[in-house]
Amino acid sequence: MSLNPKTAAQTASHIPVLLDPIMDAIAPVSGVWLDGTFGAGGYSRALLDAGAERVLAVDRDPEVFERAERWANQYGARLVMIAGEFGQLDLLAQRENAFLLDGIVLDIGVSSMQIDQAERGFSFMQDGPLDMRMSQSGTSASDIVNSADEKTLADILYQYGEERASRRIAHKIIEERKTSPIINTTRLAAIISSCLPRPKPGQVHPATRSFQALRIAVNDELRQLVDGLCAAERALKPGGVLAVVTFHSLEDRIVKRFFQARSGDGPRGNRFAPDVEIEAPRFMRLTKKAITASPAEMAANPRARSAKLRMARRLNTPAGPVDAAEMGLPNLALDGTF
Ligand SMILES: C[S@@+](CC[C@H](N)C(=O)[O-])C[C@H]1O[C@@H](n2cnc3c(N)ncnc32)[C@H](O)[C@@H]1O
Repeated sequence: MSLNPKTAAQTASHIPVLLDPIMDAIAPVSGVWLDGTFGAGGYSRALLDAGAERVLAVDRDPEVFERAERWANQYGARLVMIAGEFGQLDLLAQRENAFLLDGIVLDIGVSSMQIDQAERGFSFMQDGPLDMRMSQSGTSASDIVNSADEKTLADILYQYGEERASRRIAHKIIEERKTSPIINTTRLAAIISSCLPRPKPGQVHPATRSFQALRIAVNDELRQLVDGLCAAERALKPGGVLAVVTFHSLEDRIVKRFFQARSGDGPRGNRFAPDVEIEAPRFMRLTKKAITASPAEMAANPRARSAKLRMARRLNTPAGPVDAAEMGLPNLALDGTF
């Protein structure tokens, strides 16, 4: 897909979030790094400018690499752009002959460019097709909204959006789609809004939680996150650093539990469940509490308000299996067919 020049001009570039605390923690930078969420390239450029020998820049959205063409040449072969999912980052790195990485950065979620382009369908503020696919292929939000049964829809809205009116909204969607398929963002936003009280000043738009939920389902974002953390454990060399930035509580809970469990601070046995096996730590946490943006960063970039950064250093212990449910992955059996 080629980038629409009008769209490119209209969408402001993405401001990297929490970049300073990451760069401060990992200085001096050397060796091979993987940026699993390339986006506008803010993290990749900072790593290259700080001295990384090579950066493997992964993104599932093919459009980001077209945008980067304007500046990527200056880094020559040091910047390797890879279309793919960070859930498989160890395999993607191996394909580039990078078997043990010095560091990995993940800045989870959507970019400002994706949200700002109405035709990508992420935003309820602008009318566009109900799409939401980061990779621009596979099941779209419209496929889910028009095909999933009522219970599945309600489960998605509740589990991935923490939407308490999930059943009411799911019921209304089923009624509305009998009239005609729901294929654009503003119609879905109006349907959701009609099920909820009018927001008070300062409250979020009523469609916020449901749109988040659909986006997570369309892109299987939480499964990607668990898979990406496990892949990072396999791909990092002893001493290598993993830095993860998240934007909502479902994501942060997964990262927090992963780092806790893999650094030996997971739940211990008790008299009701005495047989919890204590595994050798695979990581040492560099952040016990998540780092948040400074007031200055929040003022300059409102997206930074909900961002949380957690970092850990890989230890010299073999990687091992992870229980996704223990990491906080909701138990939603979506088979992708809808
Ligand atoms: C928040 S933006 C990253 C911005 C980037 N750090 C920067 O400074 O420009 C997130 C990017 O990650 C990509 N992404 C999200 N989930 C992904 C996944 N599972 N695998 C690969 N890329 C993913 C999105 O397409 C988006 O471009």
